Amino acid sequence: MGQPAFARPFHRPQRGAALHCGKVSLESLARRFGTPLYVYSADQIAERSALFQAAFAGREHLLCYAVKANSALAILKLLAGRGAGFDIVSGGELERVLAAAPEAAGRVVFSGVGKTAAEIDLALDAAILAFNVESEAELHLLAERARKHKRRARFALRVNPDVFADTHPYISTGLREHKFGIDIRQAPKIYKNAAANRWLQAFGVSVHIGSQIRSAEPFGAAMERVGKLVAQLAPEGVALEAVDAGGGLGIDYHAPGFDAASKVAEYAAAIESALAGFKGRLLIEPGRFVVAQAGALVTRVLYVKRNGKKTFVITDAAMNDLIRPALYQAHHEIAPVRLRAGQPRPVDVVGPVCESGDFFARDRILAPVRPGDLLALLDAGAYGMAQSSNYNTRPRAAEVLVEGAQARLIRRRETISDLLAPESI
Ligand code: LLP
Repeated sequence: MGQPAFARPFHRPQRGAALHCGKVSLESLARRFGTPLYVYSADQIAERSALFQAAFAGREHLLCYAVKANSALAILKLLAGRGAGFDIVSGGELERVLAAAPEAAGRVVFSGVGKTAAEIDLALDAAILAFNVESEAELHLLAERARKHKRRARFALRVNPDVFADTHPYISTGLREHKFGIDIRQAPKIYKNAAANRWLQAFGVSVHIGSQIRSAEPFGAAMERVGKLVAQLAPEGVALEAVDAGGGLGIDYHAPGFDAASKVAEYAAAIESALAGFKGRLLIEPGRFVVAQAGALVTRVLYVKRNGKKTFVITDAAMNDLIRPALYQAHHEIAPVRLRAGQPRPVDVVGPVCESGDFFARDRILAPVRPGDLLALLDAGAYGMAQSSNYNTRPRAAEVLVEGAQARLIRRRETISDLLAPESI
């Protein structure tokens, strides 16, 4: 398999070779660091962020990477080094940004429907770029905390544009019936009221219509409505300097030859054409698109067993490591690290956790596998480790970042004592 530009970083350098991440063999990584193991390509993460930066080069813009997709400190540092800012949704995520790249604090936007006073205080202290405010009550709290801190708070109202995005119902957010944002029709009144408060500065308007959205069209539709709102506000004395288009651009979990560059170009074109009348600053908050395909979860086969007509491949990774298949019926390609000859057959790939929801794939046609073999669950760089848990008292996996021919442990495997440490009897 050759490596066209912007292909997945996981490939076989020649026929019959083990799967590699860039120049590094996954077999060697599994030997060195054990399994289950998350492996990320720094090169691809850099490449993806550069795609966005290039696509919006025509105007002042800021890529605010959505920390929730993968919050590894080393990845935050890498992105900050390339000029990225961050979209955070908790005080904890802010602490991560401050630990990895304190110089990026001024490039942080804070989203989320349930910010606490303590989280707002932390963000005011850190002098973040803006708060994406999701309700009038939150705006009142923000004003009160800003007055206490004697620091003016820049805010954007997160409006709900009432746009339907075709994705899994758990991750669609842009309809009026969702808990997110403020009804776009209420926004002008709220901006005007806020103008009277000296502790609030109307910085922009933001949206986020959902995640894993494959077509550019809904982004354009949302931006049309936002563009109209900004144009309507200007003559009323509310001059907004920024529009935040949110995240949500989806990847193709099925197609190895997925063309990321044209996807980003399409996305940028939809946004730019809808915002043609707005000359200000554009913020975007991609998460998945930047890191998903840069990551794989490498796992070792423990057992292969037959129950009735079914064959189960039992791996040492489980739903606690990667919950997306169980939670969203998500598809992840599964590649044997070393391909065995023989007839591919349908198997269920499952983990050791004690529930039937613990599966990575059902009736997946897979080349023959034996106990001891390594499998790579692809496109696991986003919402993989970030959504992992210790269910069944399973320590979290280790994480490795590959850069060129170098592999670096960026998070050691948890130990059972790590897990027991906060408890007392
Ligand atoms: N901005 C806001 C305000 C968000 O809520 C999100 C994601 C993003 C940006 C980034 O969206 P992205 O570009 O990654 O689509 N756990 C689910 C995805 C949940 C997304 C939640 N919000 C999954 O594994 O598919």
